[in-house]
Amino acid sequence: GFIMFVRLGSMLLLLLLLLLQFGHSLGAPGSFSLDYQKDCFRKDGEEFRYISGSIHYSRIPRVYWKDRLLKMYMAGLNAVQTYIPWNYHEDFPGRYNFSGDRDVEYFLQLAQDIGLVVILRPGPYICAEWDMGGLPAWLLNKKDIVLRSSDQDYITAVDEWMGKLLPMMKPFLYQNGGPIITVQVENEYGSYFACDYNYMRHLTKLFRSHLGEEVVLFTTDGAGLSFLKCGSIQGLYATVDFGPGSNVTAAFDAQRHAEPRGPLVNSEFYTGWLDHWGSAHSVVSSAIVAKTLNEMLAVGANVNLYMFIGGTNFGYWNGANDPYGAQPTSYDYDAPLTEAGDLTEKYFAIQEVIKMYHKIPAGPIPPTTPKYAYGTVGMKKLQTLSDALETLSLSGPVKSKYPQTFIELNQAFGYVLYRTTLPVNCNTPTPLSSPLNGVHDRAYVSVDGVAVGILERNKVITINVTGKAGSQVDLLVENMGRINYGKNINDFKGLVSNMTLGKDTLTGWTMYSLSIDDAVSQGLLGETKPTDPPPPPALSLPAFYKGSFIIPDSIPDLPQDTYIKLPKWKKGQVWINGFNLGRYWPTRGPQVTLFVPANILSTAAPNNVTVLELEEAPCSSGPCSVEFTATPILNATVQSDYKWERRLFIKDDLL
Ligand SMILES: *[C@@H]1O[C@H](CO)[C@@H](O)[C@H](O)[C@H]1NC(C)=O
Ligand SMILES: *[C@@H]1O[C@H](CO)[C@@H](O)[C@H](O)[C@H]1NC(C)=O
Ligand SMILES: *[C@@H]1O[C@H](CO)[C@@H](O)[C@H](O)[C@H]1NC(C)=O
Ligand SMILES: *[C@@H]1O[C@H](CO)[C@@H](O)[C@H](O)[C@H]1NC(C)=O
Ligand SMILES: *[C@@H]1O[C@H](CO)[C@@H](O)[C@H](O)[C@H]1NC(C)=O
Ligand SMILES: *[C@@H]1O[C@H](CO)[C@@H](O)[C@H](O)[C@H]1NC(C)=O
Repeated sequence: GFIMFVRLGSMLLLLLLLLLQFGHSLGAPGSFSLDYQKDCFRKDGEEFRYISGSIHYSRIPRVYWKDRLLKMYMAGLNAVQTYIPWNYHEDFPGRYNFSGDRDVEYFLQLAQDIGLVVILRPGPYICAEWDMGGLPAWLLNKKDIVLRSSDQDYITAVDEWMGKLLPMMKPFLYQNGGPIITVQVENEYGSYFACDYNYMRHLTKLFRSHLGEEVVLFTTDGAGLSFLKCGSIQGLYATVDFGPGSNVTAAFDAQRHAEPRGPLVNSEFYTGWLDHWGSAHSVVSSAIVAKTLNEMLAVGANVNLYMFIGGTNFGYWNGANDPYGAQPTSYDYDAPLTEAGDLTEKYFAIQEVIKMYHKIPAGPIPPTTPKYAYGTVGMKKLQTLSDALETLSLSGPVKSKYPQTFIELNQAFGYVLYRTTLPVNCNTPTPLSSPLNGVHDRAYVSVDGVAVGILERNKVITINVTGKAGSQVDLLVENMGRINYGKNINDFKGLVSNMTLGKDTLTGWTMYSLSIDDAVSQGLLGETKPTDPPPPPALSLPAFYKGSFIIPDSIPDLPQDTYIKLPKWKKGQVWINGFNLGRYWPTRGPQVTLFVPANILSTAAPNNVTVLELEEAPCSSGPCSVEFTATPILNATVQSDYKWERRLFIKDDLL
């Protein structure tokens, strides 16, 4: 019966969508402008106020874009705001990808078909708790580049990227029959130390040259004069951002300081907040979100709900804050739609508020997608990472006297193995150290094939080692995500300064760039050597594990979404059928389960789970397994002495 109901529901939805498409995808040119007399936007001559929500297409599988946008539309929103992460589309200079999950044009088309206008935030910097705030790591090829400034090399790269992107966006402008009503330039530039007006002037000219004179260009900054000082500039309409519980009058007074007339706009109204590994999961009550939303709508303001759905930092895409604290894989954000697109109490609370001001579309809301608990999957050990080096290091090792960074090794994400030898006998425990705190961000250390400890940026800069002169020392260094906010976004990865042993600087490094994702998706990892000695109790060598499960075709409507849980595993990376789901770290928390979207699962072949466990798998004392459950856990008690001191909603505190 339930399934029938869902089927009927989706047929109605399909019908609704067809109707919507008929009404909206005509592509007749329109007009969209600022009205400084009436303090509002004007769309095709009519007064227009948007209630928008943020969805980052880069955090949601393409097959779910329509579902999420439709849920947004049915809540009564009339606009969607999205960032374009530069590094998601240009992984090497001049190499672009706009297909599949990266097909931003398709996302824009869907928004338009559903009846949402679009507020586009193409950067070049986006912040967004996204690796390096969306800037490509290869910009760091120039060691002393000043990002987000008039630095000539930075500007050259920006000009080329925008020369590719903005002409693609131009047909989607409202004036040209598309959905894009406004375009943001840069992002919260007033929070950045550089305060380079020439840079902002350059971007303004660049955007105008590609998009024309008509489109409304705007900036967004914290709702305080100190932010607006360097963030707002003539020719770009200044908007502000602030969260629930703020004094709405005072916040918009700040915007009025920069824009005495024109529409009031909160470009980021925080429906929840971000998380960090090792600090409690952020939760914001629906009541306070509804209260402040109501206050803003009552004064006629335009609002964007950040986030409407947060989604997932798949793969290696999470960012980090400074002092170094990486964000977890889930970007649930305690948003009105969960990471998996589920309807929440907050969704309906927001709908209730909007109802008081605007007509809500009639018809069914797409239901929460069902989840399925596939159960327990046995895992067996494959090779250790160092045994698999030949498979993983396609380009072969690089040798140098002192360690090189990821970027020098031409690798952006993931893991690099640094290898050297003990120069002297260390019969007693001898400190192996990164005196300048240059392990970015975590190193799994072994001596002669025995795991001996972990170094961690800002937390553990020294461990003791013992061994004979000539013993092999391996440091597998993990890039846990680049800082995305503040003055240290030029976040080099790997060993970014020298390692010492006692008083000596270690030299003679051999470094292996690792193409782990390719090896996993091509199934190249072999089984473990049966002669492996049993690992010591506390720590074992980073190694791969594999398991598979079959989805029964006797059950209708599978595959469905699910969550993977790794009980008793410590920290690592997990792939399903070659798709990199992201990092797991249940021993640090608060995230315990990872979202597994149905589209990566198969009913035609066994589903392959690959795990790279960095610390210790629970397999040494017997069989080990992972588990697929129907319930997410994002709020476990955190196991860390690391306190991320912050008040909610105040980005100042992240500086
Ligand atoms: C482009 O991105 C899509 C979506 O992530 C991916 O499937 C595809 O393999 C990428 N193409 C290239 C050439 O890397
Ligand atoms: C909010 O800010 C306004 C303008 O600064 C001020 O007059 C008012 O007293 C504030 N309200 C509260 C509750 O603090
Ligand atoms: C290293 O060993 C020395 C001598 O045993 C000890 O004093 C020191 O605390 C140890 N350091 C670490 C980081 O374990
Ligand atoms: C390591 O030390 C040497 C000698 O002092 C220095 O030239 C080099 O720049 C250092 N390398 C790094 C990565 O800090
Ligand atoms: C899982 O791996 C096996 C071979 O190891 C392969 O035959 C199968 O197609 C893979 N499953 C999927 C869904 O790719
Ligand atoms: C986690 O969230 C669930 C569901 O909201 C709640 O029942 C549980 O008490 C929370 N656990 C912790 C440790 O906060």
